[in-house]
Amino acid sequence: MSGPEKHVSKRACLKSKRSRFILAIAVLIVIIVAVVPSVVVTTTRKKDNMGPKSKVFVPLYVYPAPKAWAPLEKVISAHPNVNFTVVINPGNGPGPDSLPDGNYTREIPKLTAYENVRVLGYVYTSYGKRDVSAVRKDIQTYADWPTNSSNPNLAVRGIFFDETPQQYDPQVLTYLQGLTDFVKDIEGLGPDQFVVHNPGAVPDSRYLATADSTVVFEAAYTTFQERQGAQLFTNIANSDRTQLCAIVHSVPDTVEGKELRGLIKDVRQVADEVYITHLSTDYYASFGDKWDEFVGLMAA
Ligand SMILES: *[C@@H]1O[C@H](CO)[C@@H](O)[C@H](O)[C@H]1NC(C)=O
Ligand SMILES: *[C@@H]1O[C@H](CO)[C@@H](O)[C@H](O)[C@H]1NC(C)=O
Ligand SMILES: *[C@@H]1O[C@H](CO)[C@@H](O)[C@H](O)[C@H]1NC(C)=O
Repeated sequence: MSGPEKHVSKRACLKSKRSRFILAIAVLIVIIVAVVPSVVVTTTRKKDNMGPKSKVFVPLYVYPAPKAWAPLEKVISAHPNVNFTVVINPGNGPGPDSLPDGNYTREIPKLTAYENVRVLGYVYTSYGKRDVSAVRKDIQTYADWPTNSSNPNLAVRGIFFDETPQQYDPQVLTYLQGLTDFVKDIEGLGPDQFVVHNPGAVPDSRYLATADSTVVFEAAYTTFQERQGAQLFTNIANSDRTQLCAIVHSVPDTVEGKELRGLIKDVRQVADEVYITHLSTDYYASFGDKWDEFVGLMAA
C-alpha cells in the first residue's frame, strides 16, 4: 500500500501542480484579455480623437537675429515624431547675393540638421506674370548655396512658390509646370526637390498636379469657419489631403484648450501640412504665445 499510496500521492501532487499551473495560465489569460484591449483601445481612441497626423508648416518670415529662431528649434527637438516644413525667405526670395547674410548662414544649417525638418526656399511668381528667367535665377541661387558656401547643410529641399493663381490659364499652367520640371531636374535641392504652390485658396484643379503640395487656405479663422461650414474642403477635385496645406491666422484668443484642439483636428482633416496662429497682424513675423500649445496638439 505504501508504494501505490506514494504513487497516488505523487500523482495527486503532480495533478495539483499541473492544475495550479493551468490556473496560473488561465489567470494570466484573463489579465491579458482584460488589460490589453483597453490599452489598445485607449491608444487608438487617442489617435482617432485628433484624426490624421499632419506636418507643421512654418512660414518662417522671422529675421534670424541670434536666438530669434529658438522657439522653432525648441519644438523641433521636443517633438521628433512631428515633421516640420519650414519656408525661409531671406529677401523676398534668396536675396540678391549668392549667399544670404551671416545670420541666415549661421541659423539655416541648424534647422536642416534635424531629420524631421524640410526647409523650402521662398520664390514669388506674381500669379504667373513674373519673368520666368528671374524666377529660375532665384531657384538656382538656392540650389547653389551648398556648393557656394562649402556647407552641405546650408541648403533647401525644394521651393515654395508664392502668388500662384486660382483661375485656370493654360499659359500659366505651362509656366508653372516648366518651373516644377526645373526644380525636379536641378542639383542642390535634394533629396526632396519638393514643390509647393500658394494660391491661398482652392485653385482650379488642373493646377494641383503640377505641385507636390498646394496651399488651399491662407486666411483668418472666421473665413475658415465659413468655408468649412460650406464644405468647400470636402472633395477638392483631383486631390487628397496629402497634397494640401492650410494656414489659419487671426485665431481669437478665446479659442484655446478644447476649442483649439477642435480647430486643429478640423484643419488636420483638410490638409497634411498645417499652420495655425493667433497672431492677427504680421502673422509670420514672430511666434504667437500659443505656439507651443499648437505644436503640442499637432503631436497628439
Ligand atoms: C515624417 O517623415 C518621415 C520621413 O520622411 C515619414 O516616414 C513619416 O511618415 C512622416 N510623418 C508624417 C506624419 O508626415
Ligand atoms: C545679425 O543680426 C543682428 C541683430 O539684428 C545684427 O545686429 C547683425 O548686424 C546681423 N549680422 C549680419 C551679419 O547681418
Ligand atoms: C559663389 O558665388 C560668387 C558670386 O556669384 C562667386 O564669385 C564664387 O565663385 C562662388 N563660389 C563658389 C565656391 O562657387
